Amino acid sequence: MIIDIITIFPGMFENISEYGVIREAFSNGNCILNVYNLRDFSIGKHRKVDDRPYGGGPGMVMMPEPLDRALDHIKKKNAIKASDLQKTIMLTPKGKKLCQPCLKNLSGYENLILICGRYEGIDERFIELSVDMEISIGDYVLTGGEIPALVLIDGIVRLIPGVVGSEKSLILESFEEGLLDWPQYTRPPSYRGLEVPPVLLGGNHQQIDKWRKKKSVDITKKRRPDLFDKKT
Ligand SMILES: C[S@@+](CC[C@H](N)C(=O)[O-])C[C@H]1O[C@@H](n2cnc3c(N)ncnc32)[C@H](O)[C@@H]1O
Repeated sequence: MIIDIITIFPGMFENISEYGVIREAFSNGNCILNVYNLRDFSIGKHRKVDDRPYGGGPGMVMMPEPLDRALDHIKKKNAIKASDLQKTIMLTPKGKKLCQPCLKNLSGYENLILICGRYEGIDERFIELSVDMEISIGDYVLTGGEIPALVLIDGIVRLIPGVVGSEKSLILESFEEGLLDWPQYTRPPSYRGLEVPPVLLGGNHQQIDKWRKKKSVDITKKRRPDLFDKKT
């Protein structure tokens, strides 16, 4: 998969490919990350990418031309043959809220182009003409689309086949079965007066599976009744 980022703060992406399982994906060629500075596609010597909003009001709005120039450059460079294998995604609080099935769907594309907004947002005409999908990472407002783009990259890359060592560990995660994960324990067996549940020390895998399933159900019912209701 090729992931392209369009941002005015390319430095915010410098370390993403250097840690954990994500690093593996980038170092073994499973995934390629290209970060583009939007100012390199601006018009004029002041490298301007934003202007005042029509109709007045506070803040600035990102202009459509530099964004389209950056997008054209990326599409030409990548030369993805089938357009349905490529998606241009804008990060915005007005988008569809990110969820695990949505990440799974996105992990199947050959090329994702992520547009990071700043200021008051992006000129609506660019969105209408050039964006395939708008994604929000939650019902709150951040200063820019860079952190939402990092969230998206982390969530997608770990789903690319071969990136996470064991496929099983992907299946046994929160949300995969519509439930939250069960509690996890490791050494020592006794810690500050709290014991590891005896069933986990007994070696009976049928009983362990049953205990874990029950804990998943209990925790989901208690913390996320909305998820539980959807499942039942
Ligand atoms: C200050 S925000 C603009 C908010 C916009 N005026 C609004 O009220 O919807 C600047 C940029 O941050 C990004 N952003 C902020 N919150 C986000 C969220 N929850 N999900 C995705 N992107 C977000 C978007 O790229 C947005 O264009």
